[in-house]
Amino acid sequence: MNKITLSRLAHMKQKGEKIASLTAYDASFAALFDQQAVDMLLVGDSLGMVLQGKGSTVPVTVEDIVYHTRAVAAAKPNALLMADMPFMSYATEAEGLANAAQLMRAGAEIVKLEGGAWMCDLVRKMVRGGIPVCAHLGLMPQQVNLLSGYKVQGRNDAQATSIIDEAVQLEHAGANMLLLECVPSSLAQSVSQQVSIPVIGIGAGAYCDGQILVMHDMLGVTSGKRPKFVKDFMADSNGSIASAVAAYVSQVKNLQFPTAEHSFK
Ligand code: KIV
Ligand code: NA
Repeated sequence: MNKITLSRLAHMKQKGEKIASLTAYDASFAALFDQQAVDMLLVGDSLGMVLQGKGSTVPVTVEDIVYHTRAVAAAKPNALLMADMPFMSYATEAEGLANAAQLMRAGAEIVKLEGGAWMCDLVRKMVRGGIPVCAHLGLMPQQVNLLSGYKVQGRNDAQATSIIDEAVQLEHAGANMLLLECVPSSLAQSVSQQVSIPVIGIGAGAYCDGQILVMHDMLGVTSGKRPKFVKDFMADSNGSIASAVAAYVSQVKNLQFPTAEHSFK
C-alpha cells in the first residue's frame, strides 16, 4: 500500500473520501490498524488515561509521547503518524519548537497542539521549520482543570463563531489539519466547509472530513460510562480485533459512523 501523506489526506478531503483514524501507542496495534487501512495513527496524550491509568492527560510528558511514538514508528505504518504535544510542552515558542523536534525525531510526521489562534506564531515557525501541525480545537482535554470537567464546546453562537474564526486563522498560519473535539455537528460542518485543510472529528458529528477514536474506547476496553460519541466496534465482531477495526474503517468511509446517536446538537 502507498504511504499516506498530508497531500493524500488533502486530496481525500477534496474528493469527499472520509479519513479514518485511531490512536495507537505501540508497534503491534499500529501494524494491525495499518493492515486494516486506517489512514492516520495518533500517539495521543490519552495514553495518560488508557495506558497509565491517570485521571486526565495533564501528567503526560514529552518523554512519554517520544517513547510511544518510537514504538508506533517501529511498525513502519503506511498510515500518517501524528503525535500529541503534551500539557505545557509549548508554553513558550522555544520549548514548543524543541519538543516538536523531539517528536519528529522519534518518528512523528505531524504534531498536534491543543489551542486556538494564540498559537498562530508558533504554528508558522513549526511549519517553516518542516514540522506539519494539526490544531486541536473545541474541547481541549489539557484544560480540564480550568473547564471543571469535559463538556461540549461551541454550543452558543459567540463560542461557535470564535471557533470558526480561530480555525480560519490557524489555516492561514499554515496548520495542515484541524481536530475538533466535542462540538455540535452543525459547527463542525461549518468549520469543515470554511477551511481547505482536513478536519478530523471526535464527538463532532458526521460532517467532518474524517473521524478519530481512542483505540481502547472503540475496542470496548475502557470501563465505566462510555462517552456519547464512542461506539464499541468489538460488540459485533465475534471477538476479532481486526474485524472490529475493519468495521470502524468501513463505517467511517461509508458514512455509517458517527450517527446522530454519537453526535451533539
Ligand atoms: O489524545 C488523544 O487520544 C486525542 C484524541 C482523542 C483526538 O487527542
Ligand atoms: Na490528545
